[in-house]
Amino acid sequence: MDNNKTIDTTSLSLRGQDLASTSARVDFELFMEAVQNLYCPDQNPAGAFPLNVAENTLMIPDVKERLEQVLNNHKIPEWVFKYTDPKGHPEVREILAGFMEKHLCKCPVSPDSICFSAGAAATIEASSFVLANAGDVVAIPAPAYPMYTNDLGVKSGVLRYDLQTHYHLNEHGSISPLTTANLDSAWAELNARGQGLKIVLLTSPDNPTGCMYSEGQLKSIAQWCIAHKVHLIVNEIYGLSLIDITDEDLQHDYPEEASLCSFAQIMAELQSDYLHLWYALSKDFAMSGLRFGIVHSLNQAFLNSLGNANIPHMVSNLNQWGVSEMMKDSNFIEHYILENKKRVTQSYKLVVAALNKIGVSYIPSRGSLFVWADFSKYLKEDSAQGQENLWIDIYRKTGVLLTPGAGFQHQKKGLFRIVHTALPTAHLEEAMERMLAYFRSL
Ligand SMILES: Cc1ncc(COP(=O)(O)O)c(C=O)c1O
Repeated sequence: MDNNKTIDTTSLSLRGQDLASTSARVDFELFMEAVQNLYCPDQNPAGAFPLNVAENTLMIPDVKERLEQVLNNHKIPEWVFKYTDPKGHPEVREILAGFMEKHLCKCPVSPDSICFSAGAAATIEASSFVLANAGDVVAIPAPAYPMYTNDLGVKSGVLRYDLQTHYHLNEHGSISPLTTANLDSAWAELNARGQGLKIVLLTSPDNPTGCMYSEGQLKSIAQWCIAHKVHLIVNEIYGLSLIDITDEDLQHDYPEEASLCSFAQIMAELQSDYLHLWYALSKDFAMSGLRFGIVHSLNQAFLNSLGNANIPHMVSNLNQWGVSEMMKDSNFIEHYILENKKRVTQSYKLVVAALNKIGVSYIPSRGSLFVWADFSKYLKEDSAQGQENLWIDIYRKTGVLLTPGAGFQHQKKGLFRIVHTALPTAHLEEAMERMLAYFRSL
């Protein structure tokens, strides 16, 4: 933020000074500008199309209606007004474990194996705080969610190491190219530098690529981690926002045969203290503002320590109660998951159809809210600056705000993320028309 560059930060701790003078997201200011000038065909036809923040606006009406019914038709129980177990109210954990077991994990999930925090960011922060020491390293396949750097680093002091598994997008299908050989080389490099690898973090489906990990891959990576005494965490925050890869317009993008499964199934099979899963309701259930994250682990010591570390991160009881009432309604949940898949697939198709028209390559997505696309042929200069210039030029000339490649830590320049669920379909269509006109004019 501009004013932070000039303010006096010396009254703060060293940590505070650092935080006061850096922005958590490089696209934050432009996002704030864009949301105050949203496109509207009648009122603001010259407005902006923010496609950079990972929100599932397509499903908000459905969740809103259901939560309004809960609030209108039920009396709030008394426990909501009191303190409860920092890992989550026992009845709510029971209901949420049942939801995970049936819909996400498709294997037994005990209420005693889960802990709630206020959103995935809080889950990441609390988990890394108790699993790793400051200065330990977490390895993440690149490109990866830029905010991992802050969520792992600011309080826990854990350092991010980006595993480079490919350079060009055609080296990457809808199944991640990560192998244990990538982990071997990271291990050797970190050892040579005197640093300890403490966590391997995968996101499946991935942000930003939308790729997933096959069952065999998850198992071999899990076995590698157990053998090296490294924690493996799989973040399944997009686990129920899947693309229908049988859709006839998309089928050709998915030649790979792979059996996919939730990491919880590998955890149940291998029964190790080193394997953990994260989930949150922010994306699949369009509740980024409600703040509901979940850890699932069979490591009792990890859960016990979270019970203490999590106190400042607890999910409000009103939120726990409302969500659990919604989750009890299994007809609603089943219908909701199918509808989400349908809408996510439709908006994904709209974006990739536009990219195909101008020959821009992308990673075929299995799930998530994103398309990760390669605009490098339009760079005037193959550098970080060239990438930033193109990102800003697209925004200034079309109003379309993409997520810039910077921060995802992929080596190739000119790659941007498009959040295809950020706007209503008609607005997304208009945004794609404007982008096509822009790129055709270059
Ligand atoms: C992979 C991943 N993890 C965590 C988060 C943070 O989610 P929350 O809003 O629940 O903190 C996001 C949000 O974009 C994400 O993409």
